[in-house]
Amino acid sequence: MAWHLSVQVDRDSAVPLTAQLQNAIKSRVEDRVLHPGARLPSSRQLAQDLGLSRSVVVEAYEQLIAEGYLDAVRGSGTHVTRKLPEQTAASPLLDARPASGPRWDLRVGIANLSSFPRQEWLNSYTKVLQNVSREGMDYPPVAGIAELRNELAGYLGRVRSVRAEPAQVMITAGFAQGLALLSDSLQRLGLRELAIEDPGHSGQRRFILDTGITPLPVPVDEEGLDVAALARTGARAVLVTPAHQFPTGVMLSPERRRQLLAWARERDGWIIEDDYDGEFWFDHGVRPTALQEGDPERVVYAGTTSKVLVPGLRLGWLAIPPKLYPLMERVRSRQDQGSDTLTQLAFAEMMRSGLLDRHLRRVRSRYRSRRDALAAAVRESLPDARICGCAAGLHSYALLPPGTDEAAVVHGALRRSVLVRGGQQFRFRGPPGPPALLLGYGSLPLTGINDAMAAIGEAYEEARQD
Ligand SMILES: Cc1ncc(COP(=O)(O)O)c(C=O)c1O
Repeated sequence: MAWHLSVQVDRDSAVPLTAQLQNAIKSRVEDRVLHPGARLPSSRQLAQDLGLSRSVVVEAYEQLIAEGYLDAVRGSGTHVTRKLPEQTAASPLLDARPASGPRWDLRVGIANLSSFPRQEWLNSYTKVLQNVSREGMDYPPVAGIAELRNELAGYLGRVRSVRAEPAQVMITAGFAQGLALLSDSLQRLGLRELAIEDPGHSGQRRFILDTGITPLPVPVDEEGLDVAALARTGARAVLVTPAHQFPTGVMLSPERRRQLLAWARERDGWIIEDDYDGEFWFDHGVRPTALQEGDPERVVYAGTTSKVLVPGLRLGWLAIPPKLYPLMERVRSRQDQGSDTLTQLAFAEMMRSGLLDRHLRRVRSRYRSRRDALAAAVRESLPDARICGCAAGLHSYALLPPGTDEAAVVHGALRRSVLVRGGQQFRFRGPPGPPALLLGYGSLPLTGINDAMAAIGEAYEEARQD
């Protein structure tokens, strides 16, 4: 290892020394180990450190300057360039962010960040900070602190009819970590495949693939997941969004719920219930309870604060069947040392004090009026569309008439500075599905809904005339 720069070369390698040095520096620049503007040792110093001829280092530096990784500044040596494009390790779970913001962004998964109850959070956080004991600041239990698991077990039972003892609850960094833990645990149980809904969350499919498990897409129809098709895949585990299917918004019908639970029993299988927006049910009358209620021994229930509060908290929870819990706890303990204690305590305090319920009542009514405004705007600006999935959640699914060029509508909307996703992007297999648009309204102001839908309506008319 060189003294002035943490790189090394292998003299026994078949790769030429110049190329080795060049690659080593390049990867450190790309990984931001070497920061923009960092000064590199002189070629003489580095050659001496590595026991190389100076010409090897000079050649490597020159090549990296030519490729735009380094800058040579007369009189002040060689530096890492400041002009490298910004690199972020983009999660497949996130929809790619456009370089410059559109006027209206209707992508789903964009929560209303401005509705975060800052004052309530601050009050809860201050209170727990004042009261937390010295011992309470030690490493937390990996599965979560008792206060939050107790609160959640009660809350989930009350609000979503989840049947779970606090000992079955595990706190995670959102559903993303829950899914990673589940994927790892299922593989340890010998499962290599996980059935997923089609259409579904394309980012989740990619994420599952990256964790080493094969996602098997299963069709969704107007009753939700096609359980007969699921049975034909031979999979022993499935990831579903029963309350408000992502992205179509359909609710798993009572008959399909029964079939799905029966499938799990017969197959000795597991169901992962992603209840990502289960708190947002707007209509009176039947409100679907958690599927987990039907079989707590086979259904892993997953919830998150990403819609209820904001994604930035990175806080989620799993209610895990007792048989699976010890394995998941072991897997978790190898991954990290638990979730941030103070965030857990503050969230538990918001639940205990009733502040969370109050916040939910407030945002539910705000989202309901946006949902209504969206439905009215679709009727007005896109009268040929059939809107579905609007009983719950923060997005609706608009089916366009057969034969509509969905991509042309999406592009036409973007030309009018409205970012909206088409349905095809969420399909994995089979012939293209009916043309559709996903209309996320979580982050739109009421005024924006009419404006955005008018632009989409124009784009639709334009696509029809082409
Ligand atoms: C289908 C679906 N599941 C889960 C989540 C939440 O994931 P996380 O808790 O990691 O933010 C989202 C996004 O909010 C989603 O769209």
